[in-house]
Amino acid sequence: MRVLFVCLGNICRSPTAEGVLRHQLEAAGLGDVVHVASAGTGDWHVGKAPDSRTCKAALARGYDLSRQRAQQVKAAHFAEYDLVLAMDKSNLGNLQALRPHNATGELDLFLRRYGAALDEVPDPYYGGAEGFEQVLDLIEAACRELVVEIKGRL
Ligand code: 4NP
Repeated sequence: MRVLFVCLGNICRSPTAEGVLRHQLEAAGLGDVVHVASAGTGDWHVGKAPDSRTCKAALARGYDLSRQRAQQVKAAHFAEYDLVLAMDKSNLGNLQALRPHNATGELDLFLRRYGAALDEVPDPYYGGAEGFEQVLDLIEAACRELVVEIKGRL
């Protein structure tokens, strides 16, 4: 199974989700059977490591994001991934426009699918440190639900 997380810049929210899900899958013994990646709808940060504030907040909770590099999402990703999960409604709209009509990969809004109190992961880029903690809190909880779904699908 293959899962792709998508945000705007691919340097804050979706790299965090990639690192958290990979960590949770490894803890569940599923690290080798699920491929996890992330991408951005924008291209400004392609080739860059995640934002230093994102890396610092994630590392404090045991997630090492330092080897990740940003990429821009493309139509071909919908053939490569079974599940494409958008971090907010704006990204979801852009992904719906990009998704080929015959695509088999599923597209959904990450938090709405996994029953969180919020249905979008707020963009932390222009805010303070607490925004990065909120991103981690929301993503950790939703990824736990995603792991349950993945176990049911395997
Ligand atoms: P992300 O956050 O979508 O969670 O990676 C952002 C990163 C960069 C920008 C916006 C959001 N930016 O405008 O460069």
